[in-house]
Amino acid sequence: MINPVNITRWHKWLSALVGIQCLIWAGTGLYFNQMDTQAASGNQYRQPVSHRGNTPTARFIPLSKLPVDEPVLSAELIWVSGTPLYQVKTQEPLHQYTAQQHKLFHAVSGLPWYIQPAQVKRIAVKSYNGPGSASAPALTLPPFEFDGRQQNPLWKVTFNDDVNTEVYLHADTGKVIAHSNDHSRLKHLMLTLHFMDYTNTGGFNHPLIVVFGMATLMLAGSGLVLAYRRRLSASPSAKASVDVTVTYNGQRQTLTLPAKQPLFFALTKHNISVPTECGGGGSCGQCVIQTTNDVLASPTERALLSDAEIASGKRLSCQHMAGEFSDVSVDYGEV
Ligand code: FES
Repeated sequence: MINPVNITRWHKWLSALVGIQCLIWAGTGLYFNQMDTQAASGNQYRQPVSHRGNTPTARFIPLSKLPVDEPVLSAELIWVSGTPLYQVKTQEPLHQYTAQQHKLFHAVSGLPWYIQPAQVKRIAVKSYNGPGSASAPALTLPPFEFDGRQQNPLWKVTFNDDVNTEVYLHADTGKVIAHSNDHSRLKHLMLTLHFMDYTNTGGFNHPLIVVFGMATLMLAGSGLVLAYRRRLSASPSAKASVDVTVTYNGQRQTLTLPAKQPLFFALTKHNISVPTECGGGGSCGQCVIQTTNDVLASPTERALLSDAEIASGKRLSCQHMAGEFSDVSVDYGEV
């Protein structure tokens, strides 16, 4: 049996949850509306880098002479700081950001080629036109705040300028992947809040959004139930009241109570203090009254009261409507 008090409580908690997220959406939406797109891109001090060299293609060895011992899916010529390289892929990644498996060979000598930190730093400096000076490159592992989907390790070079620019470069090729600065990091924080992407998945299709969607549906559902109940209680038939003889503090009195209101709340409105710890929530088992009426015990009462208590006419006043009674005692045993 669903306790109406529990529905109200759930509705309040869900309202708070959904309300807080709505405020976050409003705040972050305002930020996006006012955001300086260029500054927030992180590219304030970014400039293009040309890697193209002038080695004649006639000096390049054929691909068939490369020392590759795995099945090759594709191979292409790339330039890194003027050096011609064959990029041999042994696995075709779905996206640029998914984990890649490839090997680089010098296109003239055919020897395996690995980028050096000094080359990484030179490329980072070439991609930067700000006033800062560059730190030594550091090889960093995912996740990266600027792109939660990025699965490849990247070099990071930091510049000590006014917006703390960070340049991220591909671990093998030195290709500039992204510039990041204080503005883009603030934008990322706002995106995280807006899309509830607290695990940095890089999108909005994640389990927390699904849970939040279900919570919103439950809020709507509980709201409809409560509205329906309120409408019922406002209908002429629901306004019907009952006369109940109540024994309290040794005195018997006849009270006119709303038939569709839980007895606990109906008595409280008449200043009859029924013991409780949960405020009518159906969990403390304190709001015991005794009655001579034949009222079916609810599952909650069967859990909180003993069989002997139920057999003797004890019931929990928050579990029944006032209309189910004609005679109750808050002073146990005096009916
Ligand atoms: S008020 Fe707590 S169980 Fe009824």
